[in-house]
Formats: sequence, structure tokens, C-alpha cells
Amino acid sequence: MRPRLYAALLLALLSPLATSQNQPAVPPAATPPMGWNSWNWFAEKVTDKDVRQAADLLVSSGMRDAGYVYVNIDDTWEGTRDAKGVLHANEKFPDMKALADYVHSKGLKLGIYSSPGLKTCARFEGSEGHEQQDADLYASWGIDFLKYDLCSLHKEMGVMAPGDKLKQNVIMRDAYMKMHLAIVKAGRPMVYSICQYGHDSSWEWAAEVGGNMWRTTADIDSTFFRIAQIGREQAGLAQYAGPGHWNDPDMLELGNGKLTADENRSHMGLWAMLAAPLLAGNNLTQLSPNVLAVLTNREIIAIDQDRLGRQAERIYAKGPIEIWSRPLADGTVALAIFNFGEDESFLRGFSLHLAASGAANGWNARDVWAGKDLGPINDNYKFTLKRHASLIFTLSRGQAHN
Ligand code: GLA
Repeated sequence: MRPRLYAALLLALLSPLATSQNQPAVPPAATPPMGWNSWNWFAEKVTDKDVRQAADLLVSSGMRDAGYVYVNIDDTWEGTRDAKGVLHANEKFPDMKALADYVHSKGLKLGIYSSPGLKTCARFEGSEGHEQQDADLYASWGIDFLKYDLCSLHKEMGVMAPGDKLKQNVIMRDAYMKMHLAIVKAGRPMVYSICQYGHDSSWEWAAEVGGNMWRTTADIDSTFFRIAQIGREQAGLAQYAGPGHWNDPDMLELGNGKLTADENRSHMGLWAMLAAPLLAGNNLTQLSPNVLAVLTNREIIAIDQDRLGRQAERIYAKGPIEIWSRPLADGTVALAIFNFGEDESFLRGFSLHLAASGAANGWNARDVWAGKDLGPINDNYKFTLKRHASLIFTLSRGQAHN
């Protein structure tokens, strides 16, 4: 046998990813995870029925086929531990294994939530002191994704190492690493989603403790103000993201609150430019045609899921107008122009900064949201952006026009 083939086979056999449950040996989160999460809409009210319904609707709406495969139960599913320390779900989730089987039968994956502290953020049971037991339990249910949320550990760190921020940081990292190792030992691949709100520059260390994605910010809400604020804060973080490990600016708010059609596109477009995990956070029983169309726009999703995995950087920012760009695997460039301001902006005498994006004058532009090829484009392209609106171009070196 050729040595390289032998080594590959050996690695596959030893790899924690090649499990006894016949899971494919594909590293989790090779592209940013996509799916749905219960928190932004249902919060503490979520039930087994809501999760099954979300699974059904992901399929019937076409969202699953567009890539939204994780169905993630957030906080408030937890019940109490029995005499052996085994955690049981509460009365809202009568049979977690049956729920996982149901979700899997739809070609979807099931995610769950816990905390490295004693209590979750909604003050339910956390995993502290029971990490392996919980990881084994999740694996036995068939869980595919774990969001691990700092919550009460934050306070506990302060008690364990009063005034010593450095030591507190070590305690936090160790706690995240502990659960990572427990998941590996449990033997079922799970996307490991680290949630600690971007404290202590999470992007610097979260991949080292096994994170496949990590929150870079405090919680999102369904106002465009907060969405834009979080999006703009992501400038400078591109170097930390890549296949298997992603910056997470929090879950999507499309369909919640009162976002306009322009705001929906800007939210989705910015998250796609950022190679962000796309976890819809809305009530799928009230999915409007506009929200569905924006969430399932194949060309926008293709930007988010581009296999190169290079998150966009901001190449221009003046007042409310910003340009972000990212290179894509096929040699094209995605360029997005946002108007975060409250007024319509007539962009005359404005430059698209094509060279800074890696493109050049004369490259062919496609207006992605419009689904329209525009032909060769130049820096002095003139256009108008309404309040909170954006434009996304893909730019390719033109054969015919060079
Ligand atoms: C924190 C997280 C949220 C959500 C809640 C649940 O606030 O940041 O995303 O998980 O906890 O209690």
C-alpha cells in the first residue's frame, strides 16, 4: 500500500470523526453552519412541538434544500439531574431521542444548548462538573451541534479568581476546552459553537479550544440599528475565520420585528459577506414571501458558503456608506456597498474602490440581488442607495471585454 494512502486510512480509523455511528469523516463546519435556532423568536417558550414544526417547515419551505440543515434548540430545554447525575430534559421536551430521530428523518440535524457554568443564562441546569456525562448524553440522543454559553461561569470566574482577569480568562478557556474534549471522547461529530459574547477577543483563542464558531458580540435584537452595529463591528476579524472555524456575529433576525425589505437584504447580505453562520431565528409558521426569498437567495448563500472561506473586510467607510469585499474560490470578488444611514444617498463622484477589492476597472459585474449581469463596471459607477439599503456585486475578469 502506498504510504500516503496507508496514512490516510490510519488517520480515518483513529479520527474521532469516523464514528461507530457511521457518520461521514467530514470535519464539522467546513463552511459556515446554516440552520434555524429557537431563541430569537420563541426564547424560553420553545417546546418539542415548535421544534418539530420548525423541522417540517424547513423542508416544506425549501429552506433545507437551500442549506438550512441545523435545527437548534436553545436554552430552556433542561430539566433536573437524577441520582447518577444524568440530566433529563424538562416537560417541554418529553423524549429528546425521539425528537432527534424525527429531525434526522427529515434530512436535518439537531442542535442543543448548555453552559460551562452551573446555570444557563435562563437559569436552567448547566454542564459544570458533568461535562462528559452531558456530552455522552447528547451523543446518545444523536445531537449534531452544541452551543455552549458562558452565562453563570462568568460570575463564578470572578469568585474563583477575584480581581485576576488573566486567571479568569484561563478558567474560561479551560472550561471550553473541557467540553470540546468531552465531545471528542463521546465520539459523535458535533459543531461546537462557543458563545461568550466576544469577551477577551474570542476570535484570538476560541479555535484553540475546539470552537467551530464563536460569538464575537453581545446579543443581537431585531432592530436594524443593532444589526448594523454588530455587522460594522466585524471589521478587522477576517483573518480569524476559515473552513472549520468561523466568527459568529449572532443569529439572523429576518422575520422578527419590523425589518423592511431593504433591511432584510442588508442583514442577510452583510452576514453572507462575513462568512457568518446563517441561523434563522424566526417563527417559520409566519414566514413571509419576502423573508423566505431573501433567506433562500441561492447566489447570496453561495457567497456565504464559498469554499475558500475568506470573510469580507471593510475596504471603505465614510459616514454611513461602507464597502466590504471578499475573494471567492473561483477567482471572482464579492463587493457590497451599504448605506447604514437614515437618508437616501445619491452616490455620484463616489468610487467603488475596485482595486482595493482585488478587482479592476473593466471587470464584469453581476448585481446579485437583482440577478442581473451589468457587463463591465468602473470605479465611477453611479447609483443610489436608499436608507438602510445595499448592493452586492460579484465581479469577474471579463474575457470578452479585456
Ligand atoms: C445568551 C445568548 C443568547 C441565548 C440566551 C439563552 O443571552 O447570548 O443567544 O442563547 O443566552 O438564555
